Amino acid sequence: MTDLNGKIALITGASRGIGAEAARAFVAAGAKVALLARDREAVADLAGELGADAALAVPCDVSRFWEVRAAVDACVGTFGRLDVLVNNAGVIGPIARLSEADPDEWGQAIDVNLRGVFHGMRAALPVMLSQGAGTILTISSGAAHGPNEGWSAYCASKAGAAMLTRSLHLENGEGGIRAMGLSPGTVATDMQQQIKDSGVNRVSQLDWSEHISPEWVARTLVWMAGPEADAHVGEELSLRDEEIRRKVGLV
Ligand SMILES: NC(=O)c1ccc[n+]([C@@H]2O[C@H](COP(=O)([O-])OP(=O)(O)OC[C@H]3O[C@@H](n4cnc5c(N)ncnc54)[C@H](OP(=O)(O)O)[C@@H]3O)[C@@H](O)[C@H]2O)c1
Repeated sequence: MTDLNGKIALITGASRGIGAEAARAFVAAGAKVALLARDREAVADLAGELGADAALAVPCDVSRFWEVRAAVDACVGTFGRLDVLVNNAGVIGPIARLSEADPDEWGQAIDVNLRGVFHGMRAALPVMLSQGAGTILTISSGAAHGPNEGWSAYCASKAGAAMLTRSLHLENGEGGIRAMGLSPGTVATDMQQQIKDSGVNRVSQLDWSEHISPEWVARTLVWMAGPEADAHVGEELSLRDEEIRRKVGLV
């Protein structure tokens, strides 16, 4: 198992789903974590579960740069450094065809899924570059590479975020920054329930048993944070890939 003792990770969207499970997995691997989300009570509860020495709850809306920068400052102020950023916060909506989507809601999805990822990178990079090292993991999606009906904001924002990972690798890969994306496939979380409830497109029709558990994604993120994944720096990994599942130890 990847050893993250002494490492500090900041996880966005840590109030539930993949982000909350990632927080548990990072702490189990020895890391300390800063937990960011808008739901202040949920991150406080999770920090309580993980222990005051290991976890810091920071209420934060990733669509606002100043809040993300303040969260990075709080993390460094408390734990002294920042080794891993997990850009996980995301929204699926608005689920609507282009001809009907509400322009404000569409823009909000871009603000969270694309600008939020940039905000994380922009706030973490000065700290990581001054340390000479850091890992930035961004949750991607099959939607970054192919359109799904009713998901134009989600697909466009995830495509943009995937390009941010590539841009980051190009600009800072040789400066000690390990940039990677992770496309998890479909995962049993509130987001997937929202998709099911919409009844729109083929993803909503999937049987619930086809989704993987958020714990698998969390274990993969821990593995990506460690040197075991060095061969994949600069890449987007897919959890549909059997070889990756085997390397992580999921199968
Ligand atoms: N589930 C899947 O099948 C699947 C597949 C591919 C990719 N993904 C990606 O995986 C990531 C996590 O999704 P999930 O399935 O765990 O969804 P989820 O259960 O709905 O959780 C989403 C998380 O994002 C946070 N969030 C949303 N807007 C935010 C904002 N403005 N600022 C800060 N945090 C915000 C939420 O916290 P608050 O509401 O408390 O702010 C929550 O913690 C997303 O990027 C998603 O696109 C999921």
